Amino acid sequence: MTVQARYRAATKSDLQRIKSFLGENGLPELGVDEWVDNFVIAEDQNGSLLGVAGLELYEKSGLLRSVAVAQRFRGQGYGRILIESVTGTAKARGVKRLYLLTDDAGAYFERLGFQVVDRKDVDEAVKVSVEFTEVCETAAVMRRVIS
Ligand SMILES: CC(C)(COP(=O)(O)OP(=O)(O)OC[C@H]1O[C@@H](n2cnc3c(N)ncnc32)[C@H](O)[C@@H]1OP(=O)(O)O)[C@@H](O)C(=O)NCCC(=O)NCCS
Repeated sequence: MTVQARYRAATKSDLQRIKSFLGENGLPELGVDEWVDNFVIAEDQNGSLLGVAGLELYEKSGLLRSVAVAQRFRGQGYGRILIESVTGTAKARGVKRLYLLTDDAGAYFERLGFQVVDRKDVDEAVKVSVEFTEVCETAAVMRRVIS
């Protein structure tokens, strides 16, 4: 299904539906409360969520998280646009290295410029994220250097 998506920064009033959306798409909601202001959302013409992507900030490191597109809208570039939007925000905020954790979407993120890195090579600042410490302890870590 193709629609003219509207992209915008999330606000606290979007929190509950972002959490529900992440749950529906198999992603954890832990930590979203703290970072919701750094989320970008895509809505369809009725204002329903069709995609989200979030950013946690740790000095010069960022963590791209909660990238999800509703099943029926997948494969049409919405995910890529959400990720580029978050990457632009990260860059504007002085982030030099953008990380993410993923169980099974590594090939997707490789196409967007991310590379797998060893956990020991991850910036210490970003390791405090609950995504690292509590949620995705076994997930692959990927990094994209932002210039
Ligand atoms: C990963 C996800 C966000 C991609 O969103 P999307 O809007 O469908 O992605 P895009 O339209 O930008 O890109 C689609 C392309 O990526 C590929 N792709 C999608 N998910 C993929 C995955 N998990 N692994 C490898 N490739 C994938 C599609 O096959 C398609 O390829 P094509 O262009 O050759 O046809 C979406 O599939 C999703 O919400 N998945 C569930 C949640 C998730 O795993 N999130 C990532 C972990 S944080």
